[in-house]
Amino acid sequence: MANPIIAPSILAADFTRLDREIAAVPDADWIHVDVMDGHFVPNLSFGAGITAAVNRVTDKPLDVHLMIENPEKWVDDHISAGADCIIFHVEAVDGVAGAVALADSLREKGVRSGFSLRPGTPIEPYLPELRHFDEVLVMSVEPGFGGQSFMPDQLDKVRSLRREIDAQGLDTLIEIDGGISAETIEQAAAAGCDAYVAGSAVYGAADPNTAVTELRRLAAGAR
Ligand code: DX5
Ligand code: ZN
Repeated sequence: MANPIIAPSILAADFTRLDREIAAVPDADWIHVDVMDGHFVPNLSFGAGITAAVNRVTDKPLDVHLMIENPEKWVDDHISAGADCIIFHVEAVDGVAGAVALADSLREKGVRSGFSLRPGTPIEPYLPELRHFDEVLVMSVEPGFGGQSFMPDQLDKVRSLRREIDAQGLDTLIEIDGGISAETIEQAAAAGCDAYVAGSAVYGAADPNTAVTELRRLAAGAR
């Protein structure tokens, strides 16, 4: 199995010094960019201007998590801004068919496609369509805020995804987001995750890069 992918979330970084905050995690694999619109989630963060700003200061892949209504209206802006993977929420599109259509259009535009789902949204309807997606982002908190507690019951979704992805012979990556720390990452790894978003556990640490390498070491040891 490939090395665990660690994706620090800039939501937890100091926005007045984003360039230095990104330079502080040289061992990160991806940079996770949390876009919130104040409608889909009860919080506002930033838009494609920040995706572009991040892209100017790093060569790392940008994993853009759209927690917004009408994601199809905004994907082009984030693609132009330098997104490598665009993750939209299935609750913000028109059912399974809407999710597949948006994912296919993302791939046609040359970026990786991903979907995410709220803790209360079942994964089962999406399992037969996984070939359309390069990533599935399992939320292990209610989307909207960093610093919340990890929800271990969401690992059932990770296990279902792992079984289906392997049975279907796909290379879709399973990523988990919310409450990932040195205390929780091993359970997520044992359930079958490939990639881990970490906000407070990285940017709340005395040394963010040591937090990244320690999370990767723990995840690798637990699979
Ligand atoms: C939450 C965001 C997360 C958040 C994670 O809605 O999608 O990416 O930044 O933060 P932590 O790691 O602090 O739970
Ligand atoms: Zn996120």
